[in-house]
Amino acid sequence: MITIKSPKEIELMREACRVVRETLDYVGKNIRAGMTTKDVDDMVNRYIISCGAYPSSLGYCGYPASSCVSVNEVVVHGIPSDRVILDGDIVSVDITAEKNGFNGDAARTFMIGNVSEEKRQLVKVTEECFFKAVENLGPGTPLYDIGYAVQTHAESHGYGVVRALVGHGIGREMHEDPSVPNVGKKGTGMRLKEGMTICIEPMINAGTYKVVFHKDGWTVTTMDGKPSAHYENTVLITADGVEILTL
Ligand code: MF3
Ligand code: CO
Ligand code: CO
Repeated sequence: MITIKSPKEIELMREACRVVRETLDYVGKNIRAGMTTKDVDDMVNRYIISCGAYPSSLGYCGYPASSCVSVNEVVVHGIPSDRVILDGDIVSVDITAEKNGFNGDAARTFMIGNVSEEKRQLVKVTEECFFKAVENLGPGTPLYDIGYAVQTHAESHGYGVVRALVGHGIGREMHEDPSVPNVGKKGTGMRLKEGMTICIEPMINAGTYKVVFHKDGWTVTTMDGKPSAHYENTVLITADGVEILTL
């Protein structure tokens, strides 16, 4: 079921999304080579709690941490561990925070130290994919125009667009309808409506779009071992366009 948020609920969404944005800014300022992915998760946990919010990932379907920290070939859902972040890594940090019963969800891919030109370009294009998708987005836009925009931009650079995972609606639940794929045919799908809140989250691979789901039940990596980047924001459909709530 797709939920339409009332003006009052949108205020609460804005608050949760502000926590997410501030947490990611804080992580961006403090993440560095030599830390473990668990150190990153500790920062996330403490920051979100200090905002009077809850890290929704913690305990979600049994997930054991407050964030997903995905290094290089890890596409998404990297479980924080004793893996040490190295100079030259790209590290995606994906967090969801709940405040006053509503959720915000966003991800950034951080570049650590001296990053190769190949990885820099991947991170840049992945962010661009998000902004291409929200360009001209508003009430009445067919849902799969989002995937069309992401896919067209990513593939023009020779990248693989992950299909096995998608964006989603968000609100009282972290994952609500509809699913928001990152590939699609222009002009198809349901029409977006004012008051919907959705997460648009391109997951873009340097090589093949194919991924491997690991036996830990969470970790997703690229099939060819090449790097992957992730960029996500929670987006509100307004009367005349969109508002990016986590930016
Ligand atoms: N934040 C992720 C998303 O973008 C969901 C992570 S679920 C978790 O949809 F349990 F792995 F944290
Ligand atoms: Co997320
Ligand atoms: Co999401």
